[in-house]
Amino acid sequence: MRDHDIEAQPPRLQVFEGVVPRQLLAEMNATVDACRQAWRPADGRRATDTAAQFAELLRRHDPFRLAERQACARSRQGARQAGWAIERAQPLYVLRCINGGLRGQSHLRHYDSHILTLLIPLQQAAPSRENGDLILYRHPREAVAAWKNVITKVRLILMRSLPFVVRRALTFHHLAHGRCERVACVPGNVYVFNGFITLHANLHVEAGERRSLIFHYYDPGLTAGLNHVPRAWRALRDRLLDAIQPVRSRD
Ligand SMILES: [Fe+2]
Repeated sequence: MRDHDIEAQPPRLQVFEGVVPRQLLAEMNATVDACRQAWRPADGRRATDTAAQFAELLRRHDPFRLAERQACARSRQGARQAGWAIERAQPLYVLRCINGGLRGQSHLRHYDSHILTLLIPLQQAAPSRENGDLILYRHPREAVAAWKNVITKVRLILMRSLPFVVRRALTFHHLAHGRCERVACVPGNVYVFNGFITLHANLHVEAGERRSLIFHYYDPGLTAGLNHVPRAWRALRDRLLDAIQPVRSRD
């Protein structure tokens, strides 16, 4: 695991290597396998109790617990410096399973509502030109006033409705011109970034299935309520899906 200085400014992307044991990865994937046939949310994304249970399993391992603690401490420090009054609510735990049938979920450039994102790959897609890798833009946005954030979100939502081929062409154009970088996310590692100021997306998955846990921490409340409706809708949908088709941890 890399050594990190909590006092330093957080880099755009932190990688904590080898903090998730292979055995635990196998257990979590087996849990997902057990429900995969029946569980098909249209967007491949679900904030399920199982994701929260996976978080508790991860925290039983010191390297992960230390990585999470360091990332959270740095993020809170950054929030203080930026003058953001962050909510100390529970993190949002999401399980995301993306395969070739979910074109609508790729090349969607966006900012997160939360200032800290932990990406924990569970399974990589098959090697190919597009395997779901993370795309991170190089230059973070700076002053984030609420009104400006709302305008940006509306613009990005409109761009998300562009056809897949256009969204994909834009990604590869930006990669070719160095505006963003492609991050291969390896199971066992934890990837940490501030998705609130860093524009990001994912490549499409051409073959196989890419599985990730995504933990979001600290909402600075700068969306003017714009996210409340879709977030409430997704929470309701996930609760209904949990009732119909529970994803039970094997632990
Ligand atoms: Fe995101």
